[in-house]
Amino acid sequence: MKIVYGLIIISILCGCSSRLKVRDRADFTENWKFYLGDDSLANETQYDDSKWRTLDLPHDWSIEADFSLSNPATPGGGALPGGIGWYRKEFTPDKSSEGKVVYIDFDGIYWNSKVWVNGHLIGERPNGYISFRYDLTPYLKFGEKNVISVRVDNSQQPNSRWYSGSGIYRNVWLVTVDPVHIDYNGTYITTPVVTKDSSDVKIVTTIRNTENTLSNVDLYSILVDADGKEITRIDNSVNVTASGIVSSEQLLKVEQPNLWSVDRPYMYKVVTQIKRDGKIIDEYETPIGIRYFTFDKDKGFFLNGESVKIKGVCNHHDLGCLGAAVNVRAIERQLEILKEMGCNGIRTAHNPPSPELLDLCDKMGFIVMDEAFDMWRKKKSPHDYSQFFPEWHERDLTDLILRDRNHPSIFMWSIGNEILEQWSHIDADTLDLQQANMVLNFANTLDKKSIPSKDLHVNSLLTLKLADIVKQLDPTRPVTTGNNETEPSNHIFRSGAMEIIGFNYHENNWVNFHEKFPDQKLIITESTSALMSRGYYIMPSDSMNIWPERWDKPFDRPVHQCSSYDNNHVPWGTTHEGTWQLIKKYDHISGVYLWTGFDYLGEPTPFWWPSRSSYFGIIDLAGFPKDVYYMYQSEWTNKDVLHLFPHWNWNEGQLVDVWAYYSNADEVELYLNGKSLGKKTKKDGEFHVFWRVPYTKGTLKAVSRKNGKEVLSREIKTAGKPVSIRLTADRNKITADGKDLSFVTAEVLDAEGIPVPTADSFIKFSIEGNGFITGTDNGNPTDSLSLKKPERRLFSGKAIAVIQSARKDGKIVLRASSEGLESNSVEIRSVKK
Ligand code: GAL
Repeated sequence: MKIVYGLIIISILCGCSSRLKVRDRADFTENWKFYLGDDSLANETQYDDSKWRTLDLPHDWSIEADFSLSNPATPGGGALPGGIGWYRKEFTPDKSSEGKVVYIDFDGIYWNSKVWVNGHLIGERPNGYISFRYDLTPYLKFGEKNVISVRVDNSQQPNSRWYSGSGIYRNVWLVTVDPVHIDYNGTYITTPVVTKDSSDVKIVTTIRNTENTLSNVDLYSILVDADGKEITRIDNSVNVTASGIVSSEQLLKVEQPNLWSVDRPYMYKVVTQIKRDGKIIDEYETPIGIRYFTFDKDKGFFLNGESVKIKGVCNHHDLGCLGAAVNVRAIERQLEILKEMGCNGIRTAHNPPSPELLDLCDKMGFIVMDEAFDMWRKKKSPHDYSQFFPEWHERDLTDLILRDRNHPSIFMWSIGNEILEQWSHIDADTLDLQQANMVLNFANTLDKKSIPSKDLHVNSLLTLKLADIVKQLDPTRPVTTGNNETEPSNHIFRSGAMEIIGFNYHENNWVNFHEKFPDQKLIITESTSALMSRGYYIMPSDSMNIWPERWDKPFDRPVHQCSSYDNNHVPWGTTHEGTWQLIKKYDHISGVYLWTGFDYLGEPTPFWWPSRSSYFGIIDLAGFPKDVYYMYQSEWTNKDVLHLFPHWNWNEGQLVDVWAYYSNADEVELYLNGKSLGKKTKKDGEFHVFWRVPYTKGTLKAVSRKNGKEVLSREIKTAGKPVSIRLTADRNKITADGKDLSFVTAEVLDAEGIPVPTADSFIKFSIEGNGFITGTDNGNPTDSLSLKKPERRLFSGKAIAVIQSARKDGKIVLRASSEGLESNSVEIRSVKK
């Protein structure tokens, strides 16, 4: 009989004598002390931190700096205001939890962190993107004050090719459990056999016993559907050795499963319970999805038996003006904007993502390529992770797979992006002895049969080693890499370990891929790198707009902006239309991850400082779509689309190129002030239509028609002088949890109420009530004002202010003013859940 699972939980909790839940996973982000600087005594319990700043995590101290301070000598924009920072937090664990085990879980600290509890060093972790756990129990005083101190060292700069952020920029949890409990990342759930009619669900649970006596427990696994209804359950008894770890395997069967897909990402969960003497001593939930997939060398990617082209984007982890500090709503907003565009895939370029991103990808239906490294032993920036790789790669890669392998949204593991070891000029001679031994020792441990050729290059052996780590922990997903060496001589390919060949760029090698890789599967792990500034147009539009041969030098256009027509890209890239033409046409290409979905901080190609963020995004840093967004929407969704651009504020008589992206129509007719300028239809392989129009002010109008019947029409009017400010909140009601956000767009209007597309008014924001301005932005890569300032110049007529709720409910009023303009305000309600 099916029962509503929630009811059982409530009754279990009420029956429990302790005030603690059997497993208490507490948000441990409130009220930390922070100091930017170093102090060798700050790990001591009695240290006086009363003068330090109090803040809530997640926190990224680099985003608080003025961006004009970034190192002008770094073309990649990689150097950032780093330095050393300290965090401290006092807490008093409940006396009633004495006898329990208490862990602290960090989702990510950038980087080189060391953690102390009550003055005792409990661990250090160089990797800035990995999640990790420390056991606090041996040093903890229950019912008394305890202190956690964390030192974060991001002083060696530059250490990244993109903006990393600095600090405890992801969430922190305090986990209190019984000494016999489900281990960290202690469930591994797979669906070895799936058909539309039924599915096996295999559950491997790892139980840890921190007591020095054997423990006899019953292990329950309960499968619950999306409505909270129990579907089926299984239990068996397990003997957990004293101070030991035991894994137990169980198998469940689901009839008529709801399959997970990108259009209907149906989530089940497995509730794991450990019972001792009939009493629940631990309980843990693992969200899962049931789906099956294949990559076919000729026909591409299939999900649940249906052909699906992967239409993905690469994204770095920063969230624009929030910096690297994780915020669930900010990530969700990014994914919503991408989903609206028709995007169905995310590549976590080029590092382990936040757990929240993966949870959202599960729920919203994205095909994720989860990536471990941007470099192995060979460095790409002076102080990057290559220095830690020899000692830490096994641990970091292992922890990534263990953490992420239950996510249905993950379909591929990438063990590296454009790893310099692809090439043979980096050979064993260039390795130091320790590194060479590390790889060669591994080679000796391999089952000789699995080595395709005895005399493999050391870099191929390293590839095999990394792929082997992944496959040992998760044989259910293919291993790939992003490669900018697309010849079979690439040591990564020669290893034979790649289950899908990942090409970055090199579109000339896509079509005839099987000539050189006859039996392989292909995915375009990265492509395009087109360059655009939102709302900025350079005429004419039908020729390339920058000179590709200049890529190695700073491009010297005095205004550091790129044209928003899809006609400029890096020399190793393509236009968006150029990429999509091939991906769409050839079935053997499983799909693509475009560089990039969103603009990101750092790598301001093709310009250098003072530009400080990228031009690659389909969507700008503030979250405003650039024009090409609608090209994808017209191709990647079934929606009726008609997008007309540019704006209509030019000089009289000037020739202006008018483009339209459209779908579900046979033609588009353009009118200027009521007079037809002709009908246009996309030819095969084209994705836009265009007219060259001598400018005269007034109204530009486009009408798309199917079988002579109007589908959509769009109008753009010439705007007059700015008169007033308009504010529009994406959400007027947010949760009063101290985390939720409302993104408020500021524009200026002329006397008729028409938005002024070229406006660059300087807007000052102020706020009252139970919220604060956590950042402002305009998508302009050259804006050097700190992204935390409550003021912003409009760029191409737009800016945003990001409002974050306080923990109290009530009204929040955001006001915007600018000299000579009518000011405006918007009201947001912050409500307790
Ligand atoms: C790629 C690289 C990315 C980014 C991009 C810019 O080669 O993998 O991280 O740098 O170039 O075009």
